[in-house]
Amino acid sequence: MSDEALEKFRAGLATIEGEYQPALEAATNENALREARAKFTGPQGALTELMKGMKDVPGKHRRELGQASNALKNAVQALFDARLEAIEKEALRAELEGPMLDLTLPGRRPMPGRLHPVTRAEYDLLDIFGSMGFETARGPEIDTFGRCFSQLGFPPDHPATDEHDTFYVSGGGEGDEAHVLRTHTSTMQIREMSRREPPLAVVSPGKVFRRDDDATHSPMFHQLEGFLVDEGITMAHLQGMLTVFLERFFGTAIDVRFRASYFPFVEPGAELDVRRAAQGDEPAGPWMEILGCGMIHPTVLRNVGYDPEKVSGFAFGMGVDRIAMVRHAIPNIKALYDNDVRFLSAF
Ligand code: DAH
Repeated sequence: MSDEALEKFRAGLATIEGEYQPALEAATNENALREARAKFTGPQGALTELMKGMKDVPGKHRRELGQASNALKNAVQALFDARLEAIEKEALRAELEGPMLDLTLPGRRPMPGRLHPVTRAEYDLLDIFGSMGFETARGPEIDTFGRCFSQLGFPPDHPATDEHDTFYVSGGGEGDEAHVLRTHTSTMQIREMSRREPPLAVVSPGKVFRRDDDATHSPMFHQLEGFLVDEGITMAHLQGMLTVFLERFFGTAIDVRFRASYFPFVEPGAELDVRRAAQGDEPAGPWMEILGCGMIHPTVLRNVGYDPEKVSGFAFGMGVDRIAMVRHAIPNIKALYDNDVRFLSAF
């Protein structure tokens, strides 16, 4: 039994002796070389397995076989080291002799973020109105029916309050306490004036929501509301202030047109249109309505606790998206909300 084990061990050593060199030399990259070594001296390698049979070998032969096994193990490692060095040298030589790195290829540019055209328009508007003495106030996008309509003088059956125009939100109260996604930023007139006394000058930007959806209407869009209340304020102040504002925002190459119009919360009321002015051979752009304005209705002043005999004021509300569209000659409001960076990065 033990002589048999001895023979088996010797034969095993001879087999490994004959196999390891061709196996390691056949490997042409580091991974293959490591795998080849593992076949002999790895945890499940042939030599490792063979050593487990040592216990069956007669005692007097163990020393001799142990030394032979160790010598073989060292030989495998020595050949491995030599082959690894050769493989690395070869890889370096191939890289140096291979095609040169082309330093003229364009690099990968980082894509820095930027402000959306609507956000930029809003910030620019706030800058200009801020420099004219208007404070900024922001308010909630969900507000009461009362602040959105009733307190601004809308009659109860006004078409704007219809479910075809307004998003009602469940969970609110009844009547004036019902909750709606605000259809305009004019809600901020009620909020701000109710909590403070004149004189005041406020602008309030933000999102508004309507059941409108076509090339020039998006169900969510942006407005900026402005209002000023003091003693002796007239329509002339409104016109003068808006004209200065538009000149500063668009530069001189813009035409402006006031048109008499109706809004429940102002009297008199007007709409203001702008277009790109004709320049050289280029004709003027199409008229675009960008804001409504007027003198704050005495009823509204009374609703917030002011005395219309003592103070008066003007208000205006503009579409920030429209202003960005006029500024950049963008024909379709939807393009602003597709979030296509190829489009957005043009501005
Ligand atoms: N709230 C109006 C709208 O959304 C815009 C507007 C018109 C605001 C006249 C005003 C104003 O302050 O005086 O269509």
